[in-house]
Amino acid sequence: MTWLLKRLAIKPLCRWQKRLLVSLVIAFLVSLSVGAVFIFAPHWIWPKTGDHLNMLSADIENGEYVFHLSGCAACHSTAAKKDAPLAGGKRIRTPFGIITSTNITPDDEFGIGGWSRAEFADAVRQGISPQGVHYYPAFPYTSYIKMSDQDVVDIQSYIDQRIAPISEPNKSKVLPFPLNIRAGIGTWKLLYNQPAYVSDVSTYTEIEQRGAYLVEALGHCGECHTPRDTLGGLLRDQWMAGVPQGAFNPAPSLLNTRDAMGDWTDEEWLVFLQTGKLPNGEYTGGEMSHVIKEITSHLVRSDAEAMVAYFRTLNGEENR
Ligand code: HEC
Ligand code: HEC
Repeated sequence: MTWLLKRLAIKPLCRWQKRLLVSLVIAFLVSLSVGAVFIFAPHWIWPKTGDHLNMLSADIENGEYVFHLSGCAACHSTAAKKDAPLAGGKRIRTPFGIITSTNITPDDEFGIGGWSRAEFADAVRQGISPQGVHYYPAFPYTSYIKMSDQDVVDIQSYIDQRIAPISEPNKSKVLPFPLNIRAGIGTWKLLYNQPAYVSDVSTYTEIEQRGAYLVEALGHCGECHTPRDTLGGLLRDQWMAGVPQGAFNPAPSLLNTRDAMGDWTDEEWLVFLQTGKLPNGEYTGGEMSHVIKEITSHLVRSDAEAMVAYFRTLNGEENR
């Protein structure tokens, strides 16, 4: 060591410099091994779903209902391929680039045919593939993480038994370096993929709790109506406060305040969820018209009421 330092004409390190060097090396090794865990063994951090899902008996009718309320078809089907539902290929715009949705028909080769219940649950709730690779959060598992075991099992059974397998390979992903390194998503998930509800559901009535589940877990309304930080994580303290015009993908506030939804009557809310018709007689547009078609128009009356009851609890002041 001393010899090497002499050759390089570097003065021997004093004590604090040595300590600093040692800590830097340790920090480097730790981050290397953390990185390796993200890449090679994500299940050390995000434990695999166990076999307990196999004990549940599937309810396909409920699966179809929950499938609609979660909007799976909004991203995995395209208008261009009407006769091939869930074959994927929809290009989803994100602030980081375009991500293409995948084939989730029960095709054994290119779809999700033959996946175990646990594998499907890990994909939908943890964003981890059967091979242990992280999915991009354009797939809103950050909401689905709260989905119940029964609903996950039912959706998979619905897809397996009612959707035709389509033998169509996935398009390659086009995100630029370094976003194409999926290990980084692991770090992102530690920060943002949280199972806790944003709203304080412990103080909620039963109907408001059902609404929280429909909105926060299934309908993923917050994914568009909540502003994000620079890393693309949802700002939970500005939950549903709207994404301002001029920002990426603007969407209005859904808070129950005078300047947002507070003026809508319950009936106006219900008509909107059913049809997309606004209190002024016009119809909502853009992405929201897909949300109405794919998600909210499928709500049974009691669930639509639960959703409205939930939005009534969103008071911006309390959230902050
Ligand atoms: C907002 C768009 C969006 C919605 C809604 C959505 N997904 Fe996806 N999904 C994606 C994208 C994008 C990917 C690919 C992610 C990637 O490549 O990292 C994906 C990937 C998947 C995969 C992994 C497929 C594979 O071959 O590895 C499964 C399974 C899946 N989605 C199921 C579902 C189910 C079930 C629902 C409804 C509960 C759903 N998705 C809702 C966008 C969406
Ligand atoms: C993919 C993004 C996206 C998702 C998911 C989404 N919204 Fe929206 N929403 C929008 C956009 C964009 C608008 C503005 C539409 C316009 O004015 O053209 C909007 C508008 C609205 C409006 C105001 C209507 C208007 O036009 O003034 C309400 C109410 C609403 N959304 C409720 C919901 C609810 C409830 C959910 C969840 C079930 C939801 N949104 C999920 C993007 C989204």
